[in-house]
Amino acid sequence: NRRVTVRDLALAKERGERWPMLTAYDAMTASVFDEAGIPVLLVGDSMGNCHLGYETTVPVTMDEIAMLTAAVVRGTSRALVVADLPFGSYQEGEVQALRSATRLVKEAGAQAVKLEGGERSAGQIDLLVRSGIPVMAHIGLTPQSVHAMGYRVQGRGEEAAQQLLRDAKAVQDAGAFAVVMEMVPAPVAAEVTQALHVPTVGIGAGHDCDAQVLVWTDMAGLTPGRLPRFVKRYAELRGALGEAARAFAEDVTSGAFPAPEHSFE
Ligand code: KIV
Ligand code: NA
Repeated sequence: NRRVTVRDLALAKERGERWPMLTAYDAMTASVFDEAGIPVLLVGDSMGNCHLGYETTVPVTMDEIAMLTAAVVRGTSRALVVADLPFGSYQEGEVQALRSATRLVKEAGAQAVKLEGGERSAGQIDLLVRSGIPVMAHIGLTPQSVHAMGYRVQGRGEEAAQQLLRDAKAVQDAGAFAVVMEMVPAPVAAEVTQALHVPTVGIGAGHDCDAQVLVWTDMAGLTPGRLPRFVKRYAELRGALGEAARAFAEDVTSGAFPAPEHSFE
């Protein structure tokens, strides 16, 4: 009963086995996913939108990622826990990236970190990997750059597709153990997946990636409002939880709760 390792994920690609990844931001939810057999959990900076009430991932801090990573690690025993490096924690350079990643591994207990960027982040990835920290890369749409790129499909057109392929090869050469591709045309993602020996993890990147990731509040139907096209909802937790809260409120107001069986003599 050991944790999944990056070696297991490399073997899965060799065997042609696909695997799922979900985000998690707290111990209890993470334990549900761990028990369900999800092999890789990402403490994503999507916690900014989904858990902390920010508009984007940009304001998320190292303290926030470290605290929630520690919670997810405590709540799990099988899953490989990957922690996102937040915006501003690695852009200054390789030494800053190593300091930030070391904290998430050493203090929070992450088994790997993820950072955004292809060619531009290869130097950081290289030092982290040489220092013994497994790195998951993230290319295509990179939400920490929202103010520069918006939330649009990336890698459209021949030139952009070639750049995406160069980015994927750069992070693989730097030693990344897997590459997230976000909002990329399916045929381009398929070509990148073919070209790499490390697994690709798609989100809005079509059917042919080696793995798939979704933000858990999206896939469980807890996130309010319109969701991106690439999300599939597997539950309707927002409705279920709202109904529970309304039923509790009604019981309290009417005096139906607590009943004798909830009370002490
Ligand atoms: O923060 C996050 O949830 C992510 C995934 C969408 C890949 O980076
Ligand atoms: Na992220």
